[in-house]
Amino acid sequence: MEILIRNTPEAGAKLGANIVSKIIQTRDKPVLGLATGATPLRMYKELIKMHQSNQLSFRDCITFNLDEYKGLPPENKHSYHFYMMSNFFDHTDIDTKNVHLPNGFANDLRESCRKYEKLIHDAGGIDLQVLGIGTNGHIGFNEPTGSFASRTWVKILSKQTIKDNSTYFETPEEVPQHVVTMGIATIMESKHCLLIANGAKKADAIRKMIEGPLSASCPASILQMHPRVTIVLDEEASYLLTFKDHYKWVEKNKLDWQLY
Ligand code: GLP
Repeated sequence: MEILIRNTPEAGAKLGANIVSKIIQTRDKPVLGLATGATPLRMYKELIKMHQSNQLSFRDCITFNLDEYKGLPPENKHSYHFYMMSNFFDHTDIDTKNVHLPNGFANDLRESCRKYEKLIHDAGGIDLQVLGIGTNGHIGFNEPTGSFASRTWVKILSKQTIKDNSTYFETPEEVPQHVVTMGIATIMESKHCLLIANGAKKADAIRKMIEGPLSASCPASILQMHPRVTIVLDEEASYLLTFKDHYKWVEKNKLDWQLY
């Protein structure tokens, strides 16, 4: 795992945007896996800035989002579809026919999940998967104790996640209990994962993910088995890490060709 610690979330967002932009500029048909939540918002703003100053085009990008609430149509303001359009895609030159999110409103969810996996496969796989992390260590909406072998499927949220995500809804009761999410195995097939986390409330999950045992109790710990993971943290999210000084040492002493 490559662990990059920055003083502020803003600095982390800039770094994240540079990593995404490098992938876009070095691929003919870049395939991006994208995430929602509060964390990637700053990075999306940085990418939009790059686009508006003519440094970056999303014209050739194909995107796949991690997850979506079940039962919310795309036009619902709480859906991740709505989030992605209003916070990112609407401000870029991406061709919306290349934008994909799991369909939480499909009549045949089984068929729709199968098709989603096939679309990712047919696009040649995901070049860079952007991830956040839940306070309980979830990635996508893969909650603790779920299978490491899981594929895109309907999952039930934990009470912790419903509580965490209720801030985006008027009442906790409005948070859908079911979601459609890429599975852990789907995420693990991405060629490169970029996980961003900020704030002290993520510190425990971050410690378990990076330094804890590999365990379905912390789904993100599976990333220890991925060949190419970049983790961008602010100081607060990294404060429980035992080997924090070592990670800073490693970054400082990297060879030029190992740096972004
Ligand atoms: C949600 C999303 C995850 C995201 C997580 C963290 O549950 N499904 O993909 O990583 O929340 O969100 P935040 O960045 O708001 O803390």
